[in-house]
Amino acid sequence: MQLKKLRKLLNELTVTEKVGQLIQLSGEFFESSNDIVVGPEQKLGISPKIVNLSGSVLNVAGAKKTREIQDRYMAKSKHHIPLLFMADIIYGYKTIYPIPLGLGATWNTKLIRDAYKNTASEAKASGVQVAFAPMVDLVRDPRWGRVLESTGEDPYLNSQFSSSMVEGLQNGLNEGHGMASCIKHFAAYGAAESGKEYNTTDMSEYRLRNQYLPSYKAAVDSGVKMVMTSFNSLNGVPATANEWLMKKVLREEWGFEGVLISDYAAVSELVAHGIAEDNRMATQQALKATVDIDMKSPCYANELEPLLENGSISEEKVNEAVWRVLKLKNELGLFEDPYRGASEQAERHELVSKKRRELARKVADRAMVLLKNQNNILPLNKNQKIALIGPYADSQELIGLWAVHGNTKDVISISQAFREHVTKQNLKIAEGTNILENKEILNNTGISSDEQKSFVLTHEEESQKNQEAIEAAKNADVVVMVLGEHTLESGEAGSKTNLTLPDNQLKLLEKIRSLNKKIVLVVISGRPLVLSNIEPQVDAIIQAWFPGTEGGHAVADVIFGGFNPSGRLSMSFPYSVGQLPIYYNHFSTGRSPETSKHSTRYTAKYIDTPVKPLYPFGFGLSYHHAIYSNLRLNKKTMNKEDNIKVSVDIRNDSEVAGEETVQLYIRDVVGSIVRPVKELKSFKKVALPANSTITVSFEVTNDMLKFYGRDLNYESEPGNFEIFVGNNSETDLKEKFSLIDE
Ligand code: IFM
Repeated sequence: MQLKKLRKLLNELTVTEKVGQLIQLSGEFFESSNDIVVGPEQKLGISPKIVNLSGSVLNVAGAKKTREIQDRYMAKSKHHIPLLFMADIIYGYKTIYPIPLGLGATWNTKLIRDAYKNTASEAKASGVQVAFAPMVDLVRDPRWGRVLESTGEDPYLNSQFSSSMVEGLQNGLNEGHGMASCIKHFAAYGAAESGKEYNTTDMSEYRLRNQYLPSYKAAVDSGVKMVMTSFNSLNGVPATANEWLMKKVLREEWGFEGVLISDYAAVSELVAHGIAEDNRMATQQALKATVDIDMKSPCYANELEPLLENGSISEEKVNEAVWRVLKLKNELGLFEDPYRGASEQAERHELVSKKRRELARKVADRAMVLLKNQNNILPLNKNQKIALIGPYADSQELIGLWAVHGNTKDVISISQAFREHVTKQNLKIAEGTNILENKEILNNTGISSDEQKSFVLTHEEESQKNQEAIEAAKNADVVVMVLGEHTLESGEAGSKTNLTLPDNQLKLLEKIRSLNKKIVLVVISGRPLVLSNIEPQVDAIIQAWFPGTEGGHAVADVIFGGFNPSGRLSMSFPYSVGQLPIYYNHFSTGRSPETSKHSTRYTAKYIDTPVKPLYPFGFGLSYHHAIYSNLRLNKKTMNKEDNIKVSVDIRNDSEVAGEETVQLYIRDVVGSIVRPVKELKSFKKVALPANSTITVSFEVTNDMLKFYGRDLNYESEPGNFEIFVGNNSETDLKEKFSLIDE
């Protein structure tokens, strides 16, 4: 529709109709086949009239359903403004990819752009037009269950992924393809204190701008259509009412012109935050902060009109918000085709097709991170006798909590994939124990007491399961144990303080260990777990995350050598919970344990646990053996218009070809504010042929040296820098250069 016509449409709307466009309700409001409203409006405390006018729907998907809802809605809509369908499609719609922490481990932004493009095609076929993705919060504390949804702890890497995910989802939007992306959670939700869900964030503006904001900005620069506010308060003001964040930073500084939506019930929660007296005040605050859509709260529905009537807000502000919503609907082509191409036929073609599975497997292969491989026990010889043991050995529950629309029935389990490699006689499979028995966790995850019964085994049942696993292991040459967290232990409201494997699984591991067999541990989890006590007990460890629809294949590809693992951690694996938050790019202190002249005691460390993580950011092993050497710069001084060329040689002294993720870190030695000990500034993924040496080069540019300094200007500061190149953040291959002001 032409913008002139759209403007005319806006002007024709009554105030109530305008308010309707600013309300998002969930599926149950629309699911009756007789009428749109079925009763939940009473629970939420809003009128049926406004429900009929609400402009968007949350988490309804499926061509048949969305078309029916759209038809019923349009039949009643005086102005024929279609409903907008938005959903949590975070790492796949029906074809599920590894959780984003696994996607982060691929360090392959091009591949992930393709994955999100595929996801958009699937979701579009099913009638979803906006994905609440990507989640681009920087995360450094794995106690927080939502680290699952992020690509990790690094501002640069996260920004690269943020752009590629947005570009993937929105690919071809102007030509009617793809879907709109809504990044979340703006802002700094990943820094919620103590990893506790819905908690406070309080940080300096230096840290915020240098580390936490870049990934959101990258999405805005890539043209993201929507932004979701976060649940946390930031420096005393809840994000949903934070004018500085939303108006000044997001809209004025970054030029974001798209739709801003609150998180679920976050507008009404301004009352619980204690900054609004009641829903009316909350509504006023959110609208002032330019929040356009109120997701699932009674605030805008009930309070906007009275606020307009008493002059507390102007109709102009409401018009601005409605205009942004209408413009998005128009950009998506909904006025021309309210289904946007969704149909059951399109679904048959698009969903979990062979092509989609192939890509999901390719991605999942590359998300696997090999953390330990003592004596090159991996890859396994397929002709050995193998015992595959553990609650995830024969399970399809590999998609994780936020694969809301995925179907576990589509998942290739690890046992199924193993059967494709190993003969029946050589493969024994046993569950060994249950996935989760901890009563406190069961109670807190919202599992009903009836369902809980199936989790907790009697002593006899547990012994019998253990015994089956022991019997399977006794006759095996090697044991593959697939252990991990239950799906409900991570994701939203999955905060935890104990990050080891559950006790019952640890006991099973101990029993198998006592048989003196070689053990390969595969970890299924939504977060970095604390593996320090487990690591010495096993010969190899593969971090498999929740690997998605093709997860079983990916695990088997790595275990049997069909794929040489190339995943590298995008989030540090802590040595202990007491270290949290932990991240490689921490600020310099006055007493670094590595360089301080103070005696051992008086340095920045713990006295009971190492100061370093168990596995650092950027770390991961492969089946080839790469040696980095001869780091060199083409010159030692540059000015702000100049570049420096950095080169490194990488030798593969093995018979196996592989892929290296060559990482370049820079340390700004002296700054106007305290600087991180090092920061990732670039990386390259390169093929490394067997028995060969390659040279990889980077350009260091002035842009890489810029940061928000003491006066919060974004610029580089002349002085000395150190440059590190290697295959993880702890590399000590180092050179120096200077930036001069001339
Ligand atoms: O998109 C999510 C968000 O991440 C958490 N709260 C609910 C939203 C909609 O389901």
